[in-house]
Amino acid sequence: MAIYPELAGKVAVISGAGGNLGIAVTRSFHAADIKLALVDLREDSLRQRLREANLALDQMLIGALDLTQKRAAIDEFIGRVVAHYGKVDILVNVAGGFKAGGPVHEMDEEVWDFMMNINAKTAFLLSAAVVRSMVAHKTRGRIVNIAARAALSGLPTISGYSASKSAVLRLTESMAAELAEYGITVNAVMPSVIDTPQNRRSDPNADHSRWVTPESLAEVILFLVSDSARDISGAAIPVYGRA
Ligand SMILES: NC(=O)c1ccc[n+]([C@@H]2O[C@H](COP(=O)([O-])OP(=O)(O)OC[C@H]3O[C@@H](n4cnc5c(N)ncnc54)[C@H](OP(=O)(O)O)[C@@H]3O)[C@@H](O)[C@H]2O)c1
Repeated sequence: MAIYPELAGKVAVISGAGGNLGIAVTRSFHAADIKLALVDLREDSLRQRLREANLALDQMLIGALDLTQKRAAIDEFIGRVVAHYGKVDILVNVAGGFKAGGPVHEMDEEVWDFMMNINAKTAFLLSAAVVRSMVAHKTRGRIVNIAARAALSGLPTISGYSASKSAVLRLTESMAAELAEYGITVNAVMPSVIDTPQNRRSDPNADHSRWVTPESLAEVILFLVSDSARDISGAAIPVYGRA
């Protein structure tokens, strides 16, 4: 039996679903019998990733969206999810990315904008669309954002990343306070380094066993959307593995 039987039949929107963490969250939600609406930048790579994971494509709604812009298209997609499933219960904002920019006084403006857009604006725009539907349908929803350990303090050469993930934490706290009266919880997880092929390639000599796996993070996220976490909101949970 599933660990959280109450999740069966719930409807979840997952952004960045074709990425390393996104596919692990998709797999764990699918195993919990949650109905899925998946968003990513490129539909072809998302579909390919789902096929590799042996996930049945015909049971899922898929949207190819750039979540940094075209608010109307994002709202339209959520409208499509509600028309198809009747509601949205859960949102996991996984879409994000990383780019170091060098010291602030030498950093290109584009790096700053890219980090703020891909990490903070994606979560803002998709959350806004989903929350309007949750409030309208009186859904006691669950929202989980992906911040990062680097959100807690600035480090040299990654100011844009660090600031954008700090913004995710402040967004999480503001939304948790705004939505408490509706019974909607909003939390964040803070990974350090996730054990991904890209990170292994860029740091081949590190002890990879100390990094947190996407599957382990997905388990924490599943807990946060379950009834067991109904009284947790506004939290930023460190999920560092042994790093
Ligand atoms: N990897 C780490 O060590 C680490 C550490 C701390 C926090 N995090 C955070 O954890 C999350 C997942 O990381 P990950 O390693 O799984 O990243 P990933 O493999 O790069 O997955 C991110 C996904 O988001 C998609 N995406 C990017 N920009 C988008 C946009 N504008 N609109 C819609 N989708 C977009 C990407 O599409 P494309 O591939 O087509 O760009 C990709 O499928 C991110 O928020 C990341 O910042 C990661």
